Amino acid sequence: MKVQVTAGKLIDVRTDALGVCLFQGAKRPEGDLAALDKALGGLIARLLKDGDFEGKAAQTALLYPSAPVKAKRLCLVGLGKREEFTLEGFRKAVGLLAKLARRVAARSVAVSIHETEALEETRADAARAAVEAAILATYSFDEYKTDDDKGKKPLANITVVSPDRRDLKAVRAAAAEGRTIAEATCFARRLVDLPGNTHTPTYLAREARAIARSSQKLKVRVLGRADMERLKMGALLGVAKGSLEPPQFIILEYKGGRAREAPVVLVGKAVTFDSGGLSIKPSQAMEEMKRDMAGGAAVMGALKAISALKLPINVVGLIPATENLPSGTALKPGDIITTSSGKTIEILNTDAEGRLILADALTYAKRYKPAACVDLATLTGACEVALGKHCAGLMGSDEALIDEVRDAGEACGERAWPLPLWPEYHEQIKSDVADMKNIGGRGGGAITAAALLAKFAEGYPWAHLDIAGTAWVTTELPYTPKGATGYGVRLLVEFLKRRAAAA
Ligand code: BES
Ligand code: MN
Ligand code: ZN
Repeated sequence: MKVQVTAGKLIDVRTDALGVCLFQGAKRPEGDLAALDKALGGLIARLLKDGDFEGKAAQTALLYPSAPVKAKRLCLVGLGKREEFTLEGFRKAVGLLAKLARRVAARSVAVSIHETEALEETRADAARAAVEAAILATYSFDEYKTDDDKGKKPLANITVVSPDRRDLKAVRAAAAEGRTIAEATCFARRLVDLPGNTHTPTYLAREARAIARSSQKLKVRVLGRADMERLKMGALLGVAKGSLEPPQFIILEYKGGRAREAPVVLVGKAVTFDSGGLSIKPSQAMEEMKRDMAGGAAVMGALKAISALKLPINVVGLIPATENLPSGTALKPGDIITTSSGKTIEILNTDAEGRLILADALTYAKRYKPAACVDLATLTGACEVALGKHCAGLMGSDEALIDEVRDAGEACGERAWPLPLWPEYHEQIKSDVADMKNIGGRGGGAITAAALLAKFAEGYPWAHLDIAGTAWVTTELPYTPKGATGYGVRLLVEFLKRRAAAA
């Protein structure tokens, strides 16, 4: 997608679809829009007066202007009430706008950020949000469709229209950044949307190598079964041994900061298909478990973005990747495994496999002496039950880090909400025969899973995001089509940007 910024008059913007936002209850078009409306002979004013367009959130109208207006189409989008307007509201409006433009076969779209002057965020923030929303809204996963779907020609061009030349340089930079971040999010979405027979651990390793080739500051290493055996990764190997597909432990190291600076370590669960193993899942919706690698995909997307943005910070991505299948060699309930930390885990349910592979990854993280470690995992159905699809579950060992993650998520439109991780929850995973068991009984399933992780995330500040609810949607949202959301890429980039700026 080509991204541009202009500070011209709305009348003069040459585009297939010019998007303008209006607040609910606006009596007449104001500012530059008033000039545009005048050129249209008061068409917009009439729409408002007749009540055809009230500016309610998600309301849209399409007009076909004539000279002297240079845009081929005019898309009005409602923003809802001015008092309730947020940057996320703007993302949603632009998402709807971009989809409307695509539906009428526009190849270019322009978005005015005029209305965001009402927000505390800067014009640069608004430009970034607009570009992100347009790109994210028009993502589609159609590479397995062999008939060409002509109505879905992608947008090729987005122009952000700023009210005047103030801060234009910052607005341009932010728009470009928005493009990088949104494209990295779409990269992650695609990895997640790919079927399990394509996005195998080996495939993910190949994609990681491709990311590393794009930047001199990125190095990749992939550990195979033999390396895992040497490192005594009994948990990852245990989950992998039910499958013929070789497990891969993917390591991406980005060195954008000072040589001796402690890195931030990102860990992402990548179970490329989770059948449950011998504790097999019901077949109803089992296909969704091809997406059980969304944490790993988010980490890969984040590293792709930060290396393109050349963030001055050191970051390591760790992605344990495997399938979880039942077979004659699979883990069995009652088995006891020894993790690379030396700690033992009694397996009472082979479907609680994410925490096992993360245990070995969090132990591996220790060797980097991380400044902070954040893991992302589609870890528990219980997390979605607790919080729904509107935010990820957020836990960890360090309150300041948890706040940092939450704030970063709030700012970029990927929310996370804290759940407690009190010592009482650790009681629930005590085992009679091993150091711990891999399930914690009925209550607090998202938390007891995190409690197991906590036993391995020792010696560094750690935060855990349970993204089981947020990693994919089954009904489309304003800027998120059905399927993988890419949740985590934007949050991680925002989190790392803030860290890099503070260093
Ligand atoms: N990958 C699943 C969790 C999941 C469920 C993610 C639904 C997204 C949507 C995980 O490996 C799992 O199976 N967890 C079990 C844990 C249980 C056996 C303690 C679960 O949530 O049922
Ligand atoms: Mn499972
Ligand atoms: Zn799983």
